[in-house]
Amino acid sequence: MLRNTIAAFAMSTALAAVSALAVASAQTDIEIDRDAPIGTIQPEVYGQFLEHLGTQVYDGIWVGEDSDIPNTDGIRDDVYGALDRLDIPVIRWPGGCYADMYHWRDGIGAPEERTPRVNMSWGGTPEPNGFGTHEFFNLAEKLGAKTYLNVNLGTGTITEASDWLEYITATGESALAQERRANGRDEPWTIDYLSIGNETWGCGGNMRPAYYADLYAQWATLLKVEGEMPVRIISGSHEGNMDYSDEILDHPAMGDLGDGISVHFYTLPTGDWGKKGDALGFPEDEWMSTLSHTIKMDTIIEDKLAIIDSHDLGEDFHLYVDEWGMWVDGEEGAPALNQQNTIRDAVVAALNLNIFHKYADRVPMTNIAQMVNVLQAMILTDGPEMILTPTYHVYEMYVPFQGATALPVDFDSPDYSHGGETIPAVSLSAAIAENGDILIAVVNADASKAHEIALPAFGADSASVRQLTGASMDAHNSFDDPEAVSPVEMDVSATRGKLRMTLEPRSVSVMRIAQ
Ligand code: AHR
Repeated sequence: MLRNTIAAFAMSTALAAVSALAVASAQTDIEIDRDAPIGTIQPEVYGQFLEHLGTQVYDGIWVGEDSDIPNTDGIRDDVYGALDRLDIPVIRWPGGCYADMYHWRDGIGAPEERTPRVNMSWGGTPEPNGFGTHEFFNLAEKLGAKTYLNVNLGTGTITEASDWLEYITATGESALAQERRANGRDEPWTIDYLSIGNETWGCGGNMRPAYYADLYAQWATLLKVEGEMPVRIISGSHEGNMDYSDEILDHPAMGDLGDGISVHFYTLPTGDWGKKGDALGFPEDEWMSTLSHTIKMDTIIEDKLAIIDSHDLGEDFHLYVDEWGMWVDGEEGAPALNQQNTIRDAVVAALNLNIFHKYADRVPMTNIAQMVNVLQAMILTDGPEMILTPTYHVYEMYVPFQGATALPVDFDSPDYSHGGETIPAVSLSAAIAENGDILIAVVNADASKAHEIALPAFGADSASVRQLTGASMDAHNSFDDPEAVSPVEMDVSATRGKLRMTLEPRSVSVMRIAQ
């Protein structure tokens, strides 16, 4: 057995004998400490990322007013409705790598005034610029989502970025405010989060950290908005180059000019960028390697927080995981970074969300990559059709955790072992919802065995549960079978003060104990 607490959900290298039993015999006892809250799970932990890439923006979200696909002001009604049900708290836009190629003036004005360009970041595809500043801010506003803007440090200028912020936020007689009004928007919008540069170690310019730190300091000093300043996020590192962040943070002005630094971490089934692994039809070896990679998020956050703590940045300087998720090999001929999404993606999403809950007091926002059609998407579209992915269902099941208070948990997880590797089979997080109910999210990462858990009932006679599982490791929704992987609802009765439930193999469950 692995001692697995929410304070130490780490991969074990211990070898364990593989049991031939389909259901584990022992019951795992879960302890939840209601009296020692970790902190508020900021809704933005459930943030999204919308990059101009593949068929995400065009086809996936934006079809234009003249399309036969039902839309409102050019935004697909079906996709909008599905996104609305996720209570999306924040959206990052317009990239990613694409942010460093984006020129905002190409995407404002009447439809015939938009400047068609080529998306040089992602395969030289046409970029009609029909979806621009107005379309993004209006979409976010309609969804009730905060906005996270990534300005163009790579091929843009500080003047261009400064004008963009004024166009978006200015009131009064400013010529840029008047231009915005002439383009159909009277009131300014709010920029809640701002990043200057993206992956500056790579696609953002292959910069040395000290050079980027100087550029960041210059831009952060001079970029202003009317009204409250956005939360300013320094572009940091990925999991393999943590020293890069360390050196950026050595710049003496970072604590004053930044509110936090980002980290990016993608889960590749094989761990190899040259051959990442397939979305479907993969062997159990890749189920295991995917999950053992993804739970490294825990140590990545821990290491990055240690780097932050080793600098004098003030208590309100946070860590932002503004890109994370599954990245597999695309199918031959498919649009850039489009990929299927299976119950494995759902398990990956839930394992990471459980980790983020543990760091509720230090990680106020994460942005899964990405929202529609691209990488670990919520939604896939094909012409007028739309399906919800298993990852969508996890985000929908976890909605009550937005704004809830994370609680410490303690339990001995049973092992899941395969091919000489062992990880904890069970991952669990708990929180108190805003109405006082107890929320529990639990993952069974075991590819083939069910596990039993016993939870404190907190005085209740029963609890309601929603469980998502799939018939195989690559169970997924398709346009022919859109509900193959969908949550089922059940009630669990309490006996002797405990709620006992079976976690199906490859499953994610969310329980609510009414108080
Ligand atoms: O999410 C896809 C790409 O991954 C982003 O554009 C980039 O920031 C990262 O490398």
